[in-house]
Amino acid sequence: MPIVKLDELLLGVKNNSYAIGSFNVSNMEMVMGTIKAAEELNAPVIIQIAEGRLRYSPLHTLGPMMVAAAKEAKVPVVVHLDHGGTIEVIHQALEIGFTSVMFDGSKYPLDINIEKTKQVKELADKYNANVEAEIGRVGGAEGDYASVDIMITSVDEAVKFYEATKVDALAVAIGTAHGNYKEVPKLRIDRLKEIAKVVACPLVLHGGTGLTEQDFRNSLENGIKKINIATASYDSVAANVKKLAKDKPDFNYFDHTDTVMMATYENVKKHMLIFGLKDKA
Ligand code: 13P
Repeated sequence: MPIVKLDELLLGVKNNSYAIGSFNVSNMEMVMGTIKAAEELNAPVIIQIAEGRLRYSPLHTLGPMMVAAAKEAKVPVVVHLDHGGTIEVIHQALEIGFTSVMFDGSKYPLDINIEKTKQVKELADKYNANVEAEIGRVGGAEGDYASVDIMITSVDEAVKFYEATKVDALAVAIGTAHGNYKEVPKLRIDRLKEIAKVVACPLVLHGGTGLTEQDFRNSLENGIKKINIATASYDSVAANVKKLAKDKPDFNYFDHTDTVMMATYENVKKHMLIFGLKDKA
């Protein structure tokens, strides 16, 4: 099964009964665990790395590994740059063979976000790759960046942004935030419905960690086609490595490798089942 583009997967979601999971990875074990879950469930998958995490996982090493793993997978895999902030890193990801990049211009005023996103779209087109952008602002912190407050996406701005940029996917802020929630989030499904009615491209939900099964269902039934999960995988890995150290104090390096892979696999599989992805490859 070849590495595929984002629009191939997202436009393939015809009725609102499932959404594609997009899982952050930081090393080979996490890549392997994520693809293992996808293959076992016969599900399409997106693997992604955020620019804010490259301090730990340099793109020139992790990126080619992600592309190689995708090419070997038995299910369709998109290799995506999450929260790209600089044209240099976006360019590097495209050179490596990523089939999709996100430009996160949510910190800019609308007109500047539009201008910068258009530049990214022009660049990605040269590589036959797709672009995700963000309008409004998802809260919390992704990677090394400072935490930001949620700014719910305005319907008018979403329309204006999409018409000007024609991006392939649009991340909307409907009350979610990156990282673990300090308070129970209240999702603005009403706003999501309004946006989905008037914006023609697939919509993306960031900040998936900590949402309930009902939150996920409400989101995908009302227009979300891509759901991002990062912290839940990292927390699953950390918890299972701690457990390994407790249960088997003399563990060796390869016990650790297996633990990281399986902890990722378990978390990805759990979310894929909630997102309705079984046999959707
Ligand atoms: P979480 O870390 O909350 O799962 O968010 C993931 C995300 O949206 C990555 O862009």
